[in-house]
Amino acid sequence: MARSVGLCAAAVLAAALSLAGCQKADEARTGAEAGGKKQLVVGFAQTGAESSWRTAETNSMRKEAEARGIKLLIAFGQGQQANQIKAIRSFITQKVDAIVLAPIVETGWEPVLTEAKQAGVPVILVDRGVKVSDNSLYVTLIASDFVAEGEMAAEWLAKKLGGKGTIAELEGTTGAAPAIDRKKGFDETLAKKYPDMKVVLSQSADFETGKGKEVMEAFLKSDKGRQLQAVYAHNDDMALGAIQAIQEAGMKPGQDILVVSIDGVKPAFEAMVKGTLNATVECNPLFGPITFDTLRKVLAGEAVPKYIKNEDQLFDQSTAAQVIGSREY
Ligand code: AHR
Repeated sequence: MARSVGLCAAAVLAAALSLAGCQKADEARTGAEAGGKKQLVVGFAQTGAESSWRTAETNSMRKEAEARGIKLLIAFGQGQQANQIKAIRSFITQKVDAIVLAPIVETGWEPVLTEAKQAGVPVILVDRGVKVSDNSLYVTLIASDFVAEGEMAAEWLAKKLGGKGTIAELEGTTGAAPAIDRKKGFDETLAKKYPDMKVVLSQSADFETGKGKEVMEAFLKSDKGRQLQAVYAHNDDMALGAIQAIQEAGMKPGQDILVVSIDGVKPAFEAMVKGTLNATVECNPLFGPITFDTLRKVLAGEAVPKYIKNEDQLFDQSTAAQVIGSREY
């Protein structure tokens, strides 16, 4: 009952927000048109706010839109694909000039992307890809190579452990491209090159710190968890939760159990400086500039590549103190 009241309230709020968005889109157009220029209106269907990486991505999009005088309507999916689909439909109704989508999961997008295409609204995917039978349903994907990130983490750990050891894996949101691909890159590297390194425990913690801590606590109480040499987390937030769990179990993260993760957010650098996190693979969330540069080309009718790749790199404790001051997120 409490849940359905919550859902109801959320629906009313979502409707109010979408109405507010609609009014804002109209006001933006009227104001800009009075000055003789049509202001671009872009809808951004964001996953939610599950991690500090995600907040950095939202801020980058917001800041860049503002700098360019673009009206950006942001809808947070709160981790639910259904909310993102609703938001996209609302953007289409509002006749936005383009839609930017950071899809929570990979599958299930065909119907709503077809609606956007039929309405003539170009869709740019940022950060995560989708699996669709018709790739013309989106214009381009701007993202990191998540498989390569998993491979980098595995290679770093293999060097540290001398190719031998037992590992726990904290996976991201089930069905999300980074969870699928980071697992693939990491697990396949071990299977192919380091057969004496084994992932003995693996579970989703949804990219969240609290869940990362909970799952790690349960791991540490299990028989396999008492023998761990390392933890591989699909993002920094879950790694930071795991670090707390390891400390509360009376061990030293970074020493008794090595911790490697992905994202490269500032709190991860702080943990590396303290010695509790060993390494992180940067996955740059600052999508604003490249997204709006690409959008400008798309709206001008220029061809853009189907995949625009973010370049990633690994950082560990050896350089953390040196580079922490220059980190932007
Ligand atoms: O899609 C990118 C992932 O999503 C980031 O690694 C994670 O922190 C997030 O929420």
